[in-house]
Amino acid sequence: MTEQTILDMCCGSRMFWFDKEDERAVFSDIRAEQHTLCDGRRLVISPDVIADFRALPFADDTFSVAVFDPPHLERVGPNGWQGKKYGKLNRDTWRDDLRAGFAEAFRVLRPHGVLIFKWSEVQIPIKEILALTPEKPAVWQRTGKNDKTHWVSFVKGGDDSGQKDTDSLLQYASHRIIELERLLLVDVPETVWPAEVGMVYSQVETAGDLPEHHQRRLKHHINRMWLEKMPVPAIVTAARSLAVAMEKYA
Ligand SMILES: C[S@@+](CC[C@H](N)C(=O)[O-])C[C@H]1O[C@@H](n2cnc3c(N)ncnc32)[C@H](O)[C@@H]1O
Repeated sequence: MTEQTILDMCCGSRMFWFDKEDERAVFSDIRAEQHTLCDGRRLVISPDVIADFRALPFADDTFSVAVFDPPHLERVGPNGWQGKKYGKLNRDTWRDDLRAGFAEAFRVLRPHGVLIFKWSEVQIPIKEILALTPEKPAVWQRTGKNDKTHWVSFVKGGDDSGQKDTDSLLQYASHRIIELERLLLVDVPETVWPAEVGMVYSQVETAGDLPEHHQRRLKHHINRMWLEKMPVPAIVTAARSLAVAMEKYA
């Protein structure tokens, strides 16, 4: 029996597979459906496993390769064929959905496993999508009409060292900020912060419990990290540990 080492996390009708019955692959999708498209062709979505890419039913470190081609449209055309073929993003939750999809892909990949990610940026720019994973892309190729389709591959770290590096860097940054905070006790006046600051701030669950002056400081630090173009997930992580540390000086 062939070992199944490839996971297609949202296989749809398997359009981009050379062999739609490739025995090395597990095909999963959230739906099983059949439709006749407007040109008369049949669209068959028949996964081996019905599964949600946000919570995959596979153990950690299972696959050598994962393929992630999630829906890329928030708005689909009136006749609905795009929605039938590609699915549709939930307008309110797509960032969290795709963030969870990336996390699940890296969880089920073996160390050094490869993630092949596809994104068509007809409605949402690729940079917004890549900000949803802390993993670093390896190889990137644009194809298709107006170069709008992006194929991005990632390699899962051999051990947790990449993550540890990121964690210790964040820890160092947070400690440094706390040190400066203690020395300088930055006085941050009341001000109107950019929307991005509010977006990150709202993800720091404990922020609302802090005294006003610390809340302003936290927003000030988020704004600085934002201006320094730190990736959003890293800002959220740093802001959370900063909020925890600030509680001690409340
Ligand atoms: C762009 S299509 C994939 C096309 C496919 N690569 C092909 O070659 O035909 C995206 C697929 O993701 C599926 N999908 C949407 N949300 C999902 C979820 N939460 N979990 C798993 N699959 C999902 C949709 O049903 C749709 O079939």
